[in-house]
Amino acid sequence: MEALKGIRILDMTHVQAGPTCTQLLAWLGADVIKLEPPQGDATRGQLRDVPNADSLYFTMLNCNKRSIVVNMKSAEGKTVFVDLLKKSDIVMENFGPGVLDRLGFTWEKIHQLNPRVVMGSIKGFGSSGPYADFKAYENVAQAMGGAMSTTGLPEGPPFVTGAQIGDSGTGLHLAIGLLAALHQRDRTGEGQYVEVAMMDGVMNLCRVKFRDHQRLSRGPLGEYSVRTAQGMGEVPRAGNDSGGGQLGNAIHCKPHGPNDWLYVVVQEAVWEGLANRIGGEALVKDPRFAKIAERRKNQNEMWKIITEFAKSYTKREFMAILNPLDVPCGPIMSTEDLANDEHVRGRDMWVELDHPQRGKWWNVGMPIKLSDSPADIRRSPLLGEHTDEVLKSVLGYDDAKIAGLKQAGAFSAPPKKAA
Ligand SMILES: CC(C)(COP(=O)(O)OP(=O)(O)OC[C@H]1O[C@@H](n2cnc3c(N)ncnc32)[C@H](O)[C@@H]1OP(=O)(O)O)[C@@H](O)C(=O)NCCC(=O)NCCS
Repeated sequence: MEALKGIRILDMTHVQAGPTCTQLLAWLGADVIKLEPPQGDATRGQLRDVPNADSLYFTMLNCNKRSIVVNMKSAEGKTVFVDLLKKSDIVMENFGPGVLDRLGFTWEKIHQLNPRVVMGSIKGFGSSGPYADFKAYENVAQAMGGAMSTTGLPEGPPFVTGAQIGDSGTGLHLAIGLLAALHQRDRTGEGQYVEVAMMDGVMNLCRVKFRDHQRLSRGPLGEYSVRTAQGMGEVPRAGNDSGGGQLGNAIHCKPHGPNDWLYVVVQEAVWEGLANRIGGEALVKDPRFAKIAERRKNQNEMWKIITEFAKSYTKREFMAILNPLDVPCGPIMSTEDLANDEHVRGRDMWVELDHPQRGKWWNVGMPIKLSDSPADIRRSPLLGEHTDEVLKSVLGYDDAKIAGLKQAGAFSAPPKKAA
């Protein structure tokens, strides 16, 4: 039994932030109807690797959904949208600011049409405040939510992270809000408007940096390997520092290629065993590292000693040395490593699928594992693949009605006027 069986989502989202949320809810069992403009979600054609096939950008974010094409700029398309809205539990969008209002569907209007529907909305900066009118993409959110200013090295430029915290992170936040609103709707009978701004989502994920921001008003940050000082205001970029109470860093290993690194956390509890293995009794007794306070102060020397030891081992060999000592550590895994990793495959986190246009391809699996409702991952839909099916099975339209709507342009772009 799928956890969200019986929940219908009218999904107008596009690109990544919204689709990542609806894919997750589809994997949890919701019936997600992706309502697309006649030309489809722009990502279908972006970064194509197979000619005339939906791109991986699209297929990897739109599994388990049904696709229906509706031209929301035609009067007939709007009536189809309204009919679908009345049959849905959740309606979702992540258009640019004001787009849905311009189409004639404010939240007030949507609520009036279906008081039970929960509406999910993603904006770069939310619907209020001085930034409300701006569009946003992933890295804009990373820039404005605090992630970029705290990622990288102090002397270098700010960096984005490869994890899509602005888009997929926001999608996750929205999923939580929608499920909470559905729960409330079940008690009150009333839907509500759930909004997540990408900038807010990134700030939420940078919480520990705002912890450090406030600590800086009282003194330097002892655990940082880079210079910090009371009153410096901005939290500095700190390379691969752990960011927590325990010291951590990435250690370069043999053969010293770009991903031959092991991330090592020198947890307080394991120092003695680690020091003994690396430098024997002399290192255990070395006063520079005797207590956590000294290790913090002298951490750059400590990392040098650990790196010197690690240079004769690969990341996996070094990991094998540290595991029996209970040292928390992990190799830097490349995408290639992960795609071939036994643990990853065993947990269904790299899943092979088939697609009528592109053939075999792989998707990252469902990271949330429900004991009674494991996700059954199915390929993404072709553009408009389920238009007729949805019109008939969800709305009860007959062939004559569908033909009339088609004729009137409810599902297609108007023909281009001659210049
Ligand atoms: C992502 C983003 C920058 C893309 O901008 P964009 O490509 O200009 O797209 P917009 O969402 O602004 O506009 C979509 C247009 O398609 C139209 N459209 C959408 N669905 C339609 C449909 N089914 N039928 C007809 N037209 C449709 C809209 O009416 C709008 O047209 P308009 O500009 O004439 O009003 C923007 O949508 C945005 O800022 N979204 C919120 C933040 C976000 O989610 N960003 C991350 C994306 S991963």
